[in-house]
Amino acid sequence: MTLTATVTEGLEEARRRTLSLLEPVPEALLERQHSELLSPLVWDLAHVANYEDLWLLRALGCESVDASHDGLYDAFLHPRRTRGGLAMLDLAGARAYGDRIRNRVLELLHRQGADGEGPLRAGGYVYGMVVQHEHQHAETLLAALHLLPEGYADLVGERPSTPGPARPSGAEATAPPEAECAVPGGTYVVGTSTDPWSYDNERPAHEVEVAPYAIDGAPVNNAAWAEFLADGGYDRAALWTERGWTWRQEADLERPLGWEPHGEGTWLRKRFGRIEPVPAEEPVQHVCWYEADAFARWAGRRLPTEVEWEVAATCDPTTGQKYRHPWGDQLWRPGLANLGQQHLGPDPVGAHPGGRSPVGCLAMEGDVWEWTSSGFDPWPGSTAFPYREYSEVFYGGDYRVLRGGSWATSPTAARGTFRNWDHPTRRHIFAGLRTARSL
Ligand SMILES: [Fe+2]
Repeated sequence: MTLTATVTEGLEEARRRTLSLLEPVPEALLERQHSELLSPLVWDLAHVANYEDLWLLRALGCESVDASHDGLYDAFLHPRRTRGGLAMLDLAGARAYGDRIRNRVLELLHRQGADGEGPLRAGGYVYGMVVQHEHQHAETLLAALHLLPEGYADLVGERPSTPGPARPSGAEATAPPEAECAVPGGTYVVGTSTDPWSYDNERPAHEVEVAPYAIDGAPVNNAAWAEFLADGGYDRAALWTERGWTWRQEADLERPLGWEPHGEGTWLRKRFGRIEPVPAEEPVQHVCWYEADAFARWAGRRLPTEVEWEVAATCDPTTGQKYRHPWGDQLWRPGLANLGQQHLGPDPVGAHPGGRSPVGCLAMEGDVWEWTSSGFDPWPGSTAFPYREYSEVFYGGDYRVLRGGSWATSPTAARGTFRNWDHPTRRHIFAGLRTARSL
């Protein structure tokens, strides 16, 4: 496939995904703000279109379809909690706006191809940026749909085009994970200078010295989290950092988001509006960084640094090779990792033995984002590109880095060097953890 064809298919697939996620939702619910952490769903739809107008039309020298929407859909001008009060385009308006922009972008692509002179067009960079941006918003849409009081799973029903909540057959645990995988100390490469669609914050590739450590062979599962709960993990201040304990009390954290007690030591959870027993073998989700950090301390361990995470996911200590993914440099396909919203949740730990990393870790890509102990800082020698607001303005803030992508992450935006970040209090995202210890 030519780069232009890959880009065209990528753009179209991202839009199909966005629209299929929203299709089962009644229009009145699309325009409502359901949480102060998340936009009204229809805002995201017009925002991804506006971003495409900015970067695939104007930045490439073409005329804007309609610049009058710029202020309304600027994420920096309007924090999420305020977006419900904006005079937004309705569903039909947002779709028409998106279609007009897309048609012009496809004409341009047809005329000049995806590749070209200059840093924006080299390797189709700016197209990759826009495709990933829309997919990242699709994951945000899923975080909002997960909390929809009306119950997204029931709205989806049996619609064939929308992945339902049921787990696909064949994704049962097939390879018991190692309890932990040892990584020898040494010099490793972190980041990338060559991945054509990598973001500025992943660049450049650089060498780091790492002391020997061991890291969990798989993400922490719900059974382990239930033990933490049974052992009073949420009631013992000594397990929490000072700020974590303050937040635990302020926000009244008592268990992962969505969990409810159900008799002696057993738990139910609400996901996408459906109540079900918490499955023991599934990675825990919807815990914030403070909870993850306390769990690790309770287990006598710690969260890995993001460098330790990346080395365990992408480096082979025996050969010195670094790979794009835990399984190597090949493109993702189902079976290697639970990415791309195959269904609305993680798979049981061990479901994808083919995705094992060189040091033996399972499920490093897909299933759940994994909290690391690291704050969000630039790699040495990094420069902002193509705009400061993607990464630079967040460096050094009150964030913790998450790695690996979740079941809701598009394979287009999943690779071993990809860095995500969020506030340590956030738990509406599809985030869990794995722990580590120094050797
Ligand atoms: Fe955005």
